[in-house]
Amino acid sequence: MDDDRGTTVESRSPEHTRAIGKALGMSAEPGDVFLLAGDLGAGKTCLTQGVLWGLGGDEYARSPTFVLVTQYRARLTLHHVDLYRLDSFTEVDGLELDEYMYGDGLCVVEWADKAEGMFPEDSLVIRLDVTGESTRRITFEPPPRMAEWLTNVLSEVRTWSCQ
Ligand SMILES: Nc1ncnc2c1ncn2[C@@H]1O[C@H](COP(=O)(O)OP(=O)(O)OP(=O)(O)O)[C@@H](O)[C@H]1O
Ligand SMILES: [Mg+2]
Repeated sequence: MDDDRGTTVESRSPEHTRAIGKALGMSAEPGDVFLLAGDLGAGKTCLTQGVLWGLGGDEYARSPTFVLVTQYRARLTLHHVDLYRLDSFTEVDGLELDEYMYGDGLCVVEWADKAEGMFPEDSLVIRLDVTGESTRRITFEPPPRMAEWLTNVLSEVRTWSCQ
């Protein structure tokens, strides 16, 4: 399941992806930043939903249509950023994302690859790839400070039977 460059998990269903997100949310620490990359329908919002539930939130996370950032109150405030509609880096500057990135909440960014280089270096990159109708390959690239943390979270996930 693991490769050399990152850590990979095969998700077999939306529920499985939410469970992986939930495990991440349960263990997230103040100031963490998760950068999500992957095509339309890859499961970025699905994973974010799980993160919110893992933080103890009970709301439904959606890809917002008109706003680029949605906040949810939970154990840590979740700043859910979606850059799909973003046209330029200048716009990212205008969003003043730093206040969330360097705050004490958890920042989850969909379409983070649209603004590469604009985020803290020690962010956790999560790439979702469609491998079939209901399967997704989820590849994690943890910064050094999160490597051991991620190993623990994923080993927890592998003990769950909700797939
Ligand atoms: N294993 C899986 N994990 C996640 N989603 C899956 C999986 N299998 C099927 N799906 C379906 O794929 C879709 C994922 O939608 P989601 O909104 O999470 O994608 P997204 O990456 O956020 O897309 P967008 O870029 O449009 O915001 C859902 O319809 C979900 O039911
Ligand atoms: Mg989405």
